[in-house]
Amino acid sequence: MSYEGRIWCGTVNSRYLNQKIQLFGWVNRFRDMGGILFIDLRDRTGIVQLVVDQNNISNFQELKISNEDVLKVVGIVRQRPKDKINIKIPTGEYEVEVHEITVLSKSSTLPFPINEEDYKDVSVDETLRLKYRFIDLRRPKMFKNLYFRHKLIKKIRDFLDENEFLEIETPILSNPTPEGARDFLVPSRIQKGKFYALPQSPQLYKQILMVSGVDRYFQIAKCLRDEDLRADRQPEFTQLDLEMSFINYDDIFCLIEKMLKEVLLTTMGLEIKVPFLRMEYQEAIDKYMSDKPDLRFPYPIRKLDIEKVQINMEGITNDVYFLILPQTIARKEIDNLYNSGYKFLYLVREGENYKGTLLKYIQLEQFGKFLDGIEDPELKNKELYTVFVIFNQPKVKLNEIKQVLIDRRILLPTCSFYFLWVNNFPLFKLEEDGRISPEHHPFTNVHPEDKDLLMELYNNIDKLDSGMRSRFASIRSLAYDLVLNGVEVGSGSIRITDPELQKMIFSIIGLTEEEANSRFGFLLNSFKYGVPPHGGIALGLDRIISILLMTNSIRDVIAFPKTQSGSCLLTNSPSEVGEEQLKELGIKLLPLA
Ligand code: AMO
Repeated sequence: MSYEGRIWCGTVNSRYLNQKIQLFGWVNRFRDMGGILFIDLRDRTGIVQLVVDQNNISNFQELKISNEDVLKVVGIVRQRPKDKINIKIPTGEYEVEVHEITVLSKSSTLPFPINEEDYKDVSVDETLRLKYRFIDLRRPKMFKNLYFRHKLIKKIRDFLDENEFLEIETPILSNPTPEGARDFLVPSRIQKGKFYALPQSPQLYKQILMVSGVDRYFQIAKCLRDEDLRADRQPEFTQLDLEMSFINYDDIFCLIEKMLKEVLLTTMGLEIKVPFLRMEYQEAIDKYMSDKPDLRFPYPIRKLDIEKVQINMEGITNDVYFLILPQTIARKEIDNLYNSGYKFLYLVREGENYKGTLLKYIQLEQFGKFLDGIEDPELKNKELYTVFVIFNQPKVKLNEIKQVLIDRRILLPTCSFYFLWVNNFPLFKLEEDGRISPEHHPFTNVHPEDKDLLMELYNNIDKLDSGMRSRFASIRSLAYDLVLNGVEVGSGSIRITDPELQKMIFSIIGLTEEEANSRFGFLLNSFKYGVPPHGGIALGLDRIISILLMTNSIRDVIAFPKTQSGSCLLTNSPSEVGEEQLKELGIKLLPLA
């Protein structure tokens, strides 16, 4: 058999009219109409209709062709009669008059339908799809996801290559990396009792590459983290990991913006606006109560100035908050909110028509003046809005109301994709047991304006009390996240390059000098030999692709994903290991609890 002269099924067009062609593919659908036989042949590019006419039918009937058999076909491309044209498929104006068919492989009955028309009426359990992933991936929708992923990564590589980045592979058998999850460990056979850790990220290697003068590194890197799984988390996932020398924040932001703009335009024709909005971490928390706000819904929770608005109400003991939306909301929906337990006052304005429980407590004129003072691009029309007001309650309640309206599709997104930078994250976070740990990772540099505070607190660390702990938590860093539609799709920072500062951070997060040296001594050591200022970022490619393709989970954009419990249902990993193999590794298993 030869591939020579093969035409892809989905590409049959006028160029091949009346020519003999060779096709390979799977039987998508098979119809024996008595005198005439139709086969829809499918490969990854699409479907073409084959026709076997009365004169040849008996030869072909003997083949007993059924769905998903793999065929080689030789035939002549014909124009379909006008009334037989199928506008639903790109090859719909043509059909292939079959001269030869070879059945290359027979198929058993499928565990679930895969052709789009049958599939849409059936809800197929994901467990079954994962077990028979080879069949699931034949579905055009799934193939489209893999194809897009391939193209996107290819364009990213091209872009970075053009911008002087070098793709460098870093080890998979490695030492623990400090990204905050548990490590997957691999026992060493040659050095019994010792273990490699699979990399949670190439963080340490990429910093070493900067010390080596590589200057601009990237990698499409597999990262492995033994953490609890969610819809947007996999134990094994892919980052676009990159690092640059002699740069600041802006350089990274501009590079990523330029890359995404170019790559999304060429892969999906999507035009995104750059630069992306930048928001300080604290502002994001204050306005949206989240470090990854979804600004497709750009409505912050704000404090109501009750003096200005002249609220006339007893019993207000705390701050009053409000949420203003540039649309009217129907009484029925407002009642639904009340009935689900939310307590609020509201006002709906439509021109000169005002309705709502807030009316009783405010002067409309004062309130109007107050709203006029809000400079918000989303609130240009101050004559059409709904306001929700809460008091004596945490402001997160208003955020919940907003989320209910989003979930019920009362509040619709203002765009399909919203990228946002959140920067100046805290350097540390406080753990429940009082420990101070890095918010990002311990190589993140302190914000220059907060360096003095860090020194002051460090010099008094022996007097650590709860007040000091919260002051530690207020120190800002040079770390940033890239957020897309309310999901963290990237994270990075400008790094520490001063060995003394690095040692100080290790000590604050509770590493003894010995521990720090045994885990990260090589990095500290490398810094003694000329380290350039550097920084970088890692983008979660699975998450970005899944959001862009609007899939239900990142599993739909990964060829062979794991389930929530970390299993691969196709290969049945993880699996037990025989006594012999364990012995070789010097490992004895404890009885299972
Ligand atoms: P971080 O740990 O924030 O940073 O990871 C970067 C991005 O990777 C994605 N991500 C995941 N995607 C799928 N499944 C997971 N389990 C998972 N965990 C993380 C997220 C996240 O934003 N070394 C640093 C980067 C740096 O500082 O340059 C790092 O790995 O989209």
